[in-house]
Amino acid sequence: MRILSGIQPSGVLHIGNYFGMMRPAIALQSEGEAFYFIADYHALTSLHDPNAMRENSHRVALDFLACGLDPERGALFRQSDVPQVTELAWVLSTVTPMGLLERCHSYKDKIARGMTASAGLFTYPVLMAADILIYDSDVVPVGKDQKQHLEVTRDIATKINETFGSGPDGQVFKLPEPRIQTATEVVPGLDGQKMSKSYGNTIDIFGEEKETRKRIMSIITDSTPVDEPKNPETSSIFQLYSLVASAAETNAMREAFAQGGTGYGDFKKQLFARLWEHFAPMRARRAEILAQPDYVEQVLARGAERANAVAEQVMARVRRAVGLRR
Ligand code: TRP
Repeated sequence: MRILSGIQPSGVLHIGNYFGMMRPAIALQSEGEAFYFIADYHALTSLHDPNAMRENSHRVALDFLACGLDPERGALFRQSDVPQVTELAWVLSTVTPMGLLERCHSYKDKIARGMTASAGLFTYPVLMAADILIYDSDVVPVGKDQKQHLEVTRDIATKINETFGSGPDGQVFKLPEPRIQTATEVVPGLDGQKMSKSYGNTIDIFGEEKETRKRIMSIITDSTPVDEPKNPETSSIFQLYSLVASAAETNAMREAFAQGGTGYGDFKKQLFARLWEHFAPMRARRAEILAQPDYVEQVLARGAERANAVAEQVMARVRRAVGLRR
């Protein structure tokens, strides 16, 4: 079974990325061959600063490895180290109905937030379909916000199979299965909205201690007085705590909320302590990796080689299927 996912190097990774995509992807590694990549071509739809692009890409790889990605089990690579994916995206785009892309929420949301409607932003889901189909992926772990893109991928694969499928099974592509994270569907940010770089409400995985504490202390709360009972279910503090605390600790905080007598400031301190502790082993691993200057680039180079081998085979199949080659 091949498991595939991508993460954009559009900024520094935060705990929303961690619980939404990275942790499930790392856990899935034991179930098959994981192909995980840094989606730098995709990031180019929103990031036009070459130095930031280089730095973020490297840093996302480093942070992913520090969080437990095992480069022996799978492959970690840069999307752009497999340029065949853009060739496949072109082929896919020729059967993709405009209407399918016009319906994509992610595109509409980005435009609504003021991003320029470039052709790349519009065809983003086609490139994503190519990412998935070029490795004959079976399972794609993603956050809920990517669910529609997976549906688009399956639609495009079906369209290719209908148009060009021949041979015994009539298939050019197998249809990938999404694996949507439900337990941690939405990780709330400091303001209670979904944690997202574009909302400026994030807590970084590897932020400085002082800054991390400051950010947690700035979580927005309602004005319930210290003595009164508080609702844990609507509190970002409690929701974030439950991601890192044990069941017993979570229950204890739930009760303390319901009972009253504890202020939000105290709950924030508990959250900070538990969160800081949770990422301690990852910080240690990160320091180890940083002590080996070439490690990350070596991992990426090896990953690119493995990914290329598969992509080249699939692309050869596609070129034949559509008649670009004999
Ligand atoms: N669009 C995804 C995101 O922003 C990243 C991504 C690009 C991806 N290509 C992919 C995820 C292929 C899964 C599979 O999170």
